[in-house]
Amino acid sequence: MGFLNILRCTVVLLCSWCVIANPVCQEPADSVLRQMLNEYSPNALDYSVTSGSYSPPTTTDCPALNLVPASAPQSEGTTCPWYNIENTSVARYPTTLLEAQCYDCTNCISDMFSDGKHPVYRCERVMRRMWVLHKTYECNNGTYEYSPAEIYLAQNCVCGRNRSA
Ligand SMILES: *[C@@H]1O[C@H](CO)[C@@H](O)[C@H](O)[C@H]1NC(C)=O
Ligand SMILES: *[C@@H]1O[C@H](CO)[C@@H](O)[C@H](O)[C@H]1NC(C)=O
Repeated sequence: MGFLNILRCTVVLLCSWCVIANPVCQEPADSVLRQMLNEYSPNALDYSVTSGSYSPPTTTDCPALNLVPASAPQSEGTTCPWYNIENTSVARYPTTLLEAQCYDCTNCISDMFSDGKHPVYRCERVMRRMWVLHKTYECNNGTYEYSPAEIYLAQNCVCGRNRSA
């Protein structure tokens, strides 16, 4: 193999490495996205968490009221206990947000009834509205464009009269 061929190969190898190392479109800096979200309502940032920091409880069965220890967090010592899960979307800023999930209590827990359940009132989720940025995958001057959008995520669970009943 002549010197020119070796040179050609090197150039080809280097260029394919270049394409991988420098994708045509890049993510905007975190500070740019934060600034953009601030122009709407930045409350989503309050519920933004690092992925992997929350995991659901080992059981989501509806707990009996008298079995919940007094030291339990407020979210578990209620008539409609709930816990937090992560809601993740790679095409969204912030990527991971906290979302409430009710324990599997259809009817509210109540110690006024022998079976420990209220016969009529049911557990339901309360939604929280927040602004986020959605990645459009359109490239503008080498950077992905993001557009604002409103989403609803559950913030807790409460006991209420079932509206459809
Ligand atoms: C395009 O990006 C470059 C480098 O980030 C920047 O210097 C330039 O001002 C940008 N142009 C426009 C029109 O936004
Ligand atoms: C996360 O939240 C979005 C916006 O409310 C919703 O559309 C989506 O289904 C949720 N993802 C999961 C895995 O629950």
